[in-house]
Amino acid sequence: MKEVKIALLGLGVVGGGTYKILTEERETIKERYGVDIVVAKVMERDIQKAKALGIPNSALTTDIEDIAKDKEISVVAEFFGGVDFAKHCLLRCLDEGKSIVTANKEMFAKSWEELERHAKKSGAGLYFEASCVGGVPVIRALCESLQGNKVVALKGIVNGTTNFILSKMYDEGIDYQTCLKEAQQLGYAEANPTADVEGFDSSYKIRILSSLAFGVNLPLNKIYREGITAISTEIIEEAKTLGYTVKLIASGKNNGAEIQAHVYPALIPLSHPLSSVKEAYNALYVTGNNVGDLMFYGKGAGERPTGSALVSDIVKASTDQVKIRFPFIEIPKKSTKTLPLTTF
Ligand code: HSE
Repeated sequence: MKEVKIALLGLGVVGGGTYKILTEERETIKERYGVDIVVAKVMERDIQKAKALGIPNSALTTDIEDIAKDKEISVVAEFFGGVDFAKHCLLRCLDEGKSIVTANKEMFAKSWEELERHAKKSGAGLYFEASCVGGVPVIRALCESLQGNKVVALKGIVNGTTNFILSKMYDEGIDYQTCLKEAQQLGYAEANPTADVEGFDSSYKIRILSSLAFGVNLPLNKIYREGITAISTEIIEEAKTLGYTVKLIASGKNNGAEIQAHVYPALIPLSHPLSSVKEAYNALYVTGNNVGDLMFYGKGAGERPTGSALVSDIVKASTDQVKIRFPFIEIPKKSTKTLPLTTF
């Protein structure tokens, strides 16, 4: 049985969930994928968090060099969040030839070129299934299941917090501020909700998804972004009267010459499947020239759903013989154009 030693950077909610799934599913993973995944080191200051999960003190470190220089570790999964420190740690690991796994969409969307260059140089792999649409395997589908297509469009509800707020406003006629407070109480929205409600989080995700779908490097600054803070109960009522709902949509379109990408609150006809995506659920609607329309649906956040995607990447990173490369990320951008969209 092949044994693969891995390290976890941070033990937050999702890091803990990933550790639990790896432990609970260890035997199944051994049987089905022929690999025994051993968590050899964990970078975490909070000893209590580690203790609660049954991780021995001897596995803990607070120094990334203990992991980067450990020749036995071949895969490193990051749960820190934030950009600079997480990137520093991952670049160190990539430079030492370790494949990396991350759900950190902001860091990934802002640093993909750099990560790809370092990974290519050392022959390591980049795995980021959990960065977009949480537990729903959309990255794998775009990378490995649609080779017979040109993807022409993506339309997604890729942020659970805003979908929770807009669904509640629509279903219960409650105003934005009250719904935001409830989203915060339930742990969906952060105390500072800007990244979600102003559409930044969705723009990171559509940057990643559109780049993969269209095979181009779509930079963040080419994505039109508008959040949901201006959506009033009056707008929602008007939309309802006309047979629409309002959703924060992240969309990408490829007409062959131009890539257009937008994050904006859109009117969705009630006949469209995306209109039925409620609460904190996510969905991605993909149109390929041969396959037609596909819809991926599920939980876009949370300990277990996101942990599920991370474990999938850890198993893949541990068993892949050949690492997927993203050459289009290194190539100078094709011309990209955005339009001030009001239509869906
Ligand atoms: N803040 C994100 C959301 C978390 O609400 O969808 C998952 O990326």
